[in-house]
Amino acid sequence: MKVAVLMGGNSSEREVSLSTGRAVMKAVETLGLEVIPCPYEDELEAVIPLLKNADVVFIALHGGEGENGGVQKVLDENGMKYTGSDAASSALAMDKNKTKLLLGENDLPTASWLMIEGNSSGEVKTSEERFTYPVVVKPNADGSTMGVAVVHKASQLDDAVEVAQEFGGDVMIEKYIPGREITVGILEEVALPVIEIKPSHDFYDYKCKYTTGMSEYICPAELSSAVTEPISLISKQIADLIGCRHYCRVDFRLNPENEFFCLEVNTLPGLTDTSLVPKAAKQAGLSFEEVVKTIIDLALE
Ligand SMILES: Nc1ncnc2c1ncn2[C@@H]1O[C@H](COP(=O)(O)OP(=O)(O)O)[C@@H](O)[C@H]1O
Ligand SMILES: [Mg+2]
Repeated sequence: MKVAVLMGGNSSEREVSLSTGRAVMKAVETLGLEVIPCPYEDELEAVIPLLKNADVVFIALHGGEGENGGVQKVLDENGMKYTGSDAASSALAMDKNKTKLLLGENDLPTASWLMIEGNSSGEVKTSEERFTYPVVVKPNADGSTMGVAVVHKASQLDDAVEVAQEFGGDVMIEKYIPGREITVGILEEVALPVIEIKPSHDFYDYKCKYTTGMSEYICPAELSSAVTEPISLISKQIADLIGCRHYCRVDFRLNPENEFFCLEVNTLPGLTDTSLVPKAAKQAGLSFEEVVKTIIDLALE
C-alpha cells in the first residue's frame, strides 16, 4: 500500500502544512505502509506524476487551494482517492458566509453577521450605527486568524475592514460572542471529546494558535453534559450538512449563558502530534497512528 503525503503548498499556512505532513509521514511509516513524500511549493501539477504512483493521497495541506476544493477537484479529475472532504464541501466550508447562511436555514446556531464587499471603500462603514459593539471583523475566506480583529467602537471599524480586505475577497462583520473558545473534532462521523482552548491573548490569534505555550488546551473541556451533549450533536449535524468526509473540526464560541455559536468548519484541521483533533482522539483512546489509519481506510473505501 502506497500513501502519497501531499504537503507544503502555496497558502499562508504552508509551514503548518509541512508540520502536518511530517507527522503524517511518520505515522504512515509506523503503520508499515509505504510513504511517497509529495511536497510542492508553487504548482500542484509538479507532483501529479508522483501522486499517480500511490493508492491513496493523504492531503496534509491547510488553507488556500488545499482546503478550498481546488486540489480536490484536480485529484478527482485524475481519478485519485484522497483523504478528507470532497471539492464541493471544502469550498463551502472555506466560505464562512455561505456556511453561516446554510446553518441559519437549518436553525443551527451561529452569531449574527453582515458582509462587506471586498472592493467597497471605507466611508460606508463608520456611518453604520446599526452595530452593537464589540464586533469581529474578518476576511470571509482566510483560515489562520490572519486579518481578524475585535473592534470595540465605530471609529475603529474602517481600519479593521481595510486590513481584512487586504487578504482578498469579502469581509465579514460578526457579532462578538463573549466567553469561551470551544472546538469539536469529528472522526469517522463520531464527535470526539470537546476541547476548550484558552488563548493567552484576548482572542485565538495566529500567535496563540501556532506558538507552543501561548494557549492552554483542556480536553475533555470542563463543561456539564448539558452543554457537551448538544454541542457534540450539533457539531455532527453541522459536519453532515456541509458534507464533510472522514474528519473535520467544528469551532464554536460559548457565551456565559452557555449558549454556543458556530464560528466555522475546518475541513483540513491540523494533524501534528499536538494538534486538536489528535488531542481529542487521544482522549477517546485513539493514538495518532490510529487516527491516520482510520482516515486512510475511510479514503480507500
Ligand atoms: N464572533 C466572534 N466572537 C468572539 N470571538 C471571535 C468571533 N469570531 C472570531 N473570533 C475569534 O477569532 C478567532 C478566529 O476566527 P475564525 O472565524 O475562526 O477565523 P479563522 O478562519 O481565521 O480561524 C476565533 O478562533 C476566535 O478566537
Ligand atoms: Mg478558526
